[in-house]
Amino acid sequence: MNDPLAFNKILAGFLCACLILFGAGKFASFMQGVDGGHHGDDHSGDGHSSSKNSYPIVVTESSVSNPATVSSSPIMITPILALIANADADAGQKLSKKCAACHSFNAGGANKVGPNLWNIVNRDMGKVENYKYSKALSAFGGKWDYSSLNQFLLKPKQYIKGTKMNYTGLKKDKDRANIILWLRSLAETPAELPSEEDIQNEKEDIAS
Ligand code: HEC
Repeated sequence: MNDPLAFNKILAGFLCACLILFGAGKFASFMQGVDGGHHGDDHSGDGHSSSKNSYPIVVTESSVSNPATVSSSPIMITPILALIANADADAGQKLSKKCAACHSFNAGGANKVGPNLWNIVNRDMGKVENYKYSKALSAFGGKWDYSSLNQFLLKPKQYIKGTKMNYTGLKKDKDRANIILWLRSLAETPAELPSEEDIQNEKEDIAS
C-alpha cells in the first residue's frame, strides 16, 4: 500500500524540481533582458536628470547615429500607379513650387540645397553630379521609379531615414500622382506610363 504512494511522492518531487529549474532558467534570462533594458533607460535617464549640459550631448549622439543606420520602413499606402496614369501634369507643375526653393528642374540646372531634378524618373538614386548627398541617401541604392518616388514624397524622412531633405511630404495621393506625372515630363524621353498590367500587379502586391 505504501509503496505506490511513496513512488508517487518521489515522482511529484522530481517533477517539481524540474519545474523549478526550468522556471529559474526562464527567470534568469528574463532578468537579463530586463537588465539590458535598464542600462539603456539609465543612459537617457541620466541625460535628462543630471546637469543641463549633458542633455545636448545626448541629442548629438542620437543625431549622429541616425544617418549611419540606413534603413527604410516601407510606408504602405494605397496604390499610386492608376492615379499616375490619370494624373494632371499641370497641377503637378503648380505643386512643384513647393520644391523650387531647393530644387531646379531644367536640363543642366544648378544644384541648390537639393540636387537638380531633370530626368529624375527611373534614374539611379543619388547620382546627380557634383551634388553632395547625405550618407543615408547615397547608401540607400535603387532607382527613382514611380513607387519609390511615391513613398519618398509621402514621407521623405520615413522612407530614407537620415535623408537631409527637410520636407514633410505631400500627404494627398492625388498631389503625389500629379507631381510624379509632371516630373516624368522632365526628360528627353519620358519614362513609360504605368501599363494596365503594372497597375494590376501593384494592387496584388499591396493586397498580399
Ligand atoms: C527644404 C529643401 C527641399 C525641399 C522643399 C524639397 N527637397 Fe527634395 N531634396 C532636398 C535635399 C537636400 C535632397 C538631398 C537629400 C539627401 O542627400 O539625403 C533632396 C533630394 C530629393 C530627391 C532625390 C534626388 C536624387 O538625385 O536622388 C528627389 C526625387 C526630391 N528631392 C524630390 C523633391 C520634390 C518632388 C519636392 C517637392 C514636392 C522636394 N524634393 C522638396 C531638399 C528639398
